[in-house]
Amino acid sequence: MATSLQSLLLVLSILLLANIATSSYHKALNFTLFQHETINKTGFIVYTGPTGPAVTLTTAPIGTINTFQDPLMATASNSSMVLGTVEGTSVTSGVDGLQGISMAKITLNLKGHKGSISILGVIRNIVPSDIPVVGGTGDFLFVGGYVTTSPVNVVGLTATFKIEFHLYWPPFPV
Ligand SMILES: *[C@@H]1O[C@H](CO)[C@@H](O)[C@H](O)[C@H]1NC(C)=O
Ligand SMILES: *[C@@H]1O[C@H](CO)[C@@H](O)[C@H](O)[C@H]1NC(C)=O
Ligand SMILES: *[C@@H]1O[C@H](CO)[C@@H](O)[C@H](O)[C@H]1NC(C)=O
Repeated sequence: MATSLQSLLLVLSILLLANIATSSYHKALNFTLFQHETINKTGFIVYTGPTGPAVTLTTAPIGTINTFQDPLMATASNSSMVLGTVEGTSVTSGVDGLQGISMAKITLNLKGHKGSISILGVIRNIVPSDIPVVGGTGDFLFVGGYVTTSPVNVVGLTATFKIEFHLYWPPFPV
């Protein structure tokens, strides 16, 4: 009796564990796009902060507000296919002028996935940064995860950033 009850409990817990394991995420998606920003064309300094290093492509005085609507392309070449846009604002939040708090909406038009994701976090200008995904719309409704943004090419009037997306959808039905 005890033995069969124990067996039943064992089977139930294995089933439960298997269910948790297979439903820990609904779906995951990783891909990479490239953000192309051109100063005074797609990205603008709308306010220059009171103190700190001079405005360059990688530094700005603390409090500086940069607003942008940049194309997201398939490669680091500015003639590659446009697959989305990233629009947002960053405010320099480092006294050394090297990092800012960024909020952005990323609109994506990918094969099989259309919609947007929103990101919020601190981007360090000259090294890779992980930014949490705070939500999404369309095919990205309820999405979670993070993006890693890294400078690729920052010269003259243009700055190119690699954006690696690590997205997952929650296990509950949406
Ligand atoms: C996506 O990248 C994460 C690391 O960030 C990795 O753990 C996961 O296995 C990758 N998923 C797919 C579907 O490639
Ligand atoms: C961008 O435009 C502003 C305002 O017209 C100007 O002061 C600034 O020098 C321009 N920046 C570059 C890099 O051309
Ligand atoms: C693309 O990049 C090249 C080389 O950096 C540059 O000469 C050209 O003006 C850029 N084109 C656009 C549309 O920004």
